[in-house]
Amino acid sequence: MMQPENTRWKHFNSIECLRHGVFDAIVKSANEAIKQRGQFSIVLAGGNTPRTVYRLLRDLDTDWSKWHIYHGDERCLPIDHEDRNSLMAEQVWLRYVNIPASQVHDIPAELGSVAGAKAYAETLHVAPTFDMVLLGLGEDGHTASLFPNHEVDNSADAVPVFNAPKPPADRITISQNRLNNTREVIFIVSGAGKQEAVDHWRSGTAIPATLIAPSCGVDVYCFGVAV
Ligand code: 6PG
Repeated sequence: MMQPENTRWKHFNSIECLRHGVFDAIVKSANEAIKQRGQFSIVLAGGNTPRTVYRLLRDLDTDWSKWHIYHGDERCLPIDHEDRNSLMAEQVWLRYVNIPASQVHDIPAELGSVAGAKAYAETLHVAPTFDMVLLGLGEDGHTASLFPNHEVDNSADAVPVFNAPKPPADRITISQNRLNNTREVIFIVSGAGKQEAVDHWRSGTAIPATLIAPSCGVDVYCFGVAV
């Protein structure tokens, strides 16, 4: 398990401060990546708090032609289903900015978990190390679609998930190993419902979120939980 010093806890006093904190970190990371490597690749999280961050990005002044968008996980639902993470990002952010369509890498979860994961694994296989991975934390400690009591499947960069405890049961997730292939990770954690998972994490008890342990460490941006 990751050493505690590699997990940097940052507590914010309001949801607005958390939201702006994540926004500022994305902007800093994007500016550096574009300057140093000519592109910025970011993996998006689903969830309500990330949604408010994406809304802020809509108005960012940046060279959008350098951005590459991925998703950490997706629900196996029709492409236009309101619970799709890709639709959420599209509605609040991506349709308002000029990222080339070929650089928005949605997970083709409408194909079903097995075929969709296979296709996304091929996409990821030729993608570089991510610059930034955004992740949420579920009340049960899950992150992306890595759930408790599910065997960790690192057989490909993207893998199917069956019997997820949170609906829908069929999903696709980027694998643990591929998520760890990144220069930066931010967990976005808000709400008292996450306290038990956070307590486990801080006491060194393994939860799915602790599978994410890249050499750069992880930043956990929190509001509404005691840390
Ligand atoms: C899912 C959710 C989930 C989400 C967390 C945190 O597919 O199960 O997207 O992974 O990231 O539950 O969500 P909130 O930010 O809404 O608390």
